[in-house]
Amino acid sequence: MCGIVAYLGNKSAYPIMIKGLQRLEYRGYDSAGVALLNGSLTIIRRKGKVKDLEDFAVGKNLSGTVGIGHTRWATHGKPDDRNAHPHLSGNGRLTLVHNGIIENYDTLKKALEKLGHVFHSETDTEVLVHLIEEIQTRDNLVIEEAVRVALQKVVGAYAIVVIDKEDPDKLVAARKASPLVIGIGTDDFYIASDATPIVEYTKKVVYLNDEEIAVVKKDGSLQIFTISNEMQKPHIQQLDMELERLEKEGFDYFMLKEIHEQPRTIADGMRGRMNAEEGWIRLGGVAEYVNKMSKAQRFIIVACGTSWHAGLIAEYLFEDLARIPVEVEYASEFRYRNPIITENDVVIALSQSGETADTMAALEMAKEKGALIYGLVNVVGSSIARLTDAGSYIHAGPEIGVASTKAFTGQLTLLTLMALKLAYLKGTITNSYFHELLTELENIPAKIGKILQNAEQIEYIAGEFKGASNALYLGRGYNFPVALEGALKLKEISYIHAEGYPAAEMKHGPIALIDENMPVIVIANNKSAYEKIVSNIQEVKARRGVVIAIVEEGDEVIKHIADYTIEIPATEEPLSPLLSVIPLQLFAYYIAILRGCNVDQPRNLAKSVTVE
Ligand code: M6R
Repeated sequence: MCGIVAYLGNKSAYPIMIKGLQRLEYRGYDSAGVALLNGSLTIIRRKGKVKDLEDFAVGKNLSGTVGIGHTRWATHGKPDDRNAHPHLSGNGRLTLVHNGIIENYDTLKKALEKLGHVFHSETDTEVLVHLIEEIQTRDNLVIEEAVRVALQKVVGAYAIVVIDKEDPDKLVAARKASPLVIGIGTDDFYIASDATPIVEYTKKVVYLNDEEIAVVKKDGSLQIFTISNEMQKPHIQQLDMELERLEKEGFDYFMLKEIHEQPRTIADGMRGRMNAEEGWIRLGGVAEYVNKMSKAQRFIIVACGTSWHAGLIAEYLFEDLARIPVEVEYASEFRYRNPIITENDVVIALSQSGETADTMAALEMAKEKGALIYGLVNVVGSSIARLTDAGSYIHAGPEIGVASTKAFTGQLTLLTLMALKLAYLKGTITNSYFHELLTELENIPAKIGKILQNAEQIEYIAGEFKGASNALYLGRGYNFPVALEGALKLKEISYIHAEGYPAAEMKHGPIALIDENMPVIVIANNKSAYEKIVSNIQEVKARRGVVIAIVEEGDEVIKHIADYTIEIPATEEPLSPLLSVIPLQLFAYYIAILRGCNVDQPRNLAKSVTVE
């Protein structure tokens, strides 16, 4: 949560800040602010989005070749101008931006107040800048040393960048449990929460590790040392990211663009990893640990939100195809309930961002207990990617829309490949079924393309339900988690209350909700439980419910019972979620648009949840 961007060099910093903050706005959009160093410090902060900041900045002195910027997702203190970053020290010398939570801020604040510090915001960040000031003044330290000593007193998570007005040729950055990337330009430096604000200027980057402090200077030097004062050699990496993929490319919203990208992103996720004709699957990360994985006592999948839904589908895939027992856990619950983990377990983290705080913490705990930890993430170089013993990238490209779409189908593609690989090695599926599934997997991108061509019909149906207050999503087997995912998509972007249920569970409670005002979205493309789903639809209709059914092309039975049917191509059941989720993504998107919602930046949400 919260996005940080900073620049030090010879260019004008303000436009770099604004562009960078726009790219990071997916991380939070409660307020935005910049600090520019131009002999003196200019700080401009505003409640709202980056656009509000830009409007507010008109006519102000925006000069300066050193700057820090911030887009906020509020934790401590409501979203208003006062709590917006950057925050200033009491003596007006230091200013900083922060992503994370200082957990012991209250104790620190009380101690600083006793020393005469006065605070103007409710944030933990302001406490941190005062703490650095106190240490710097008391011990007469250079800024990087004051930051180092101050951070030793801090409990919590942080990514910070600090300006010292009296030391104007440098920026100091530090991280612990919140990401920070340093871009190395020809004669300048860029610092940001992720690489998206940097890629336009340079592809040479250094990912800062936990408890590391970096000092970048106008003389072109970059120095990294730890909080315990050990020098580190910067590990320079080359970014593999195309700028074009960060743009909307003609779509109204990133979410719509990302939904439409799925035929390509799924193909990208499979590229070089499988060949249906020759009958092989090669997954770099899995190859190294294939024995351990195929002999694992069980897989434990940890994730949050949409990634957790992908984990639930993986449970069906691994158990059904590879006969490996699977437990799927909310990372936030798992980390706090003293779970039994042994060295024979494989713990798999699913995360688009690779930065989700709860998922990271769950993995760290599993690692300590000796389990093999495996990551399936989208963002290259992210914290989870670097923490895990092994892993595979989803290769979906940057996902900017807060509602996850292409990362979900990317995760499913990779999980299917993993399950098939292990099933093949363990001999738990026949050769012919293995080949059938691989061949069908190659057909999935084209089949998604066909569903996308039907977007107009889905938009029409969405129009019929734009006034709904509640919705129920039902699915069975492989498609039960898709029901959960459909409901999450609808509620997070349109603010319509929605619940996902296993279709057969409906009778145990939710059936009481059904009346003529309740749209019930039934995922009915399963082959195995088809008759049972038909009965579930009959049950809804008998209570005057309105049914929208996702059915296989050519389905003649449900068409006559349901109020609306959306046809999708037939496929093998383990692959069916890859298709059935697409109309649900579009349905949520169109309803939200028709209700006037900002689908890319839904209220109260952030793309990357780096606080617990
Ligand atoms: O980056 P992650 O996959 O770890 O994020 C997990 C959730 O925060 C995320 O899926 C969230 O639920 C999305 N808003 C869903 O669209």
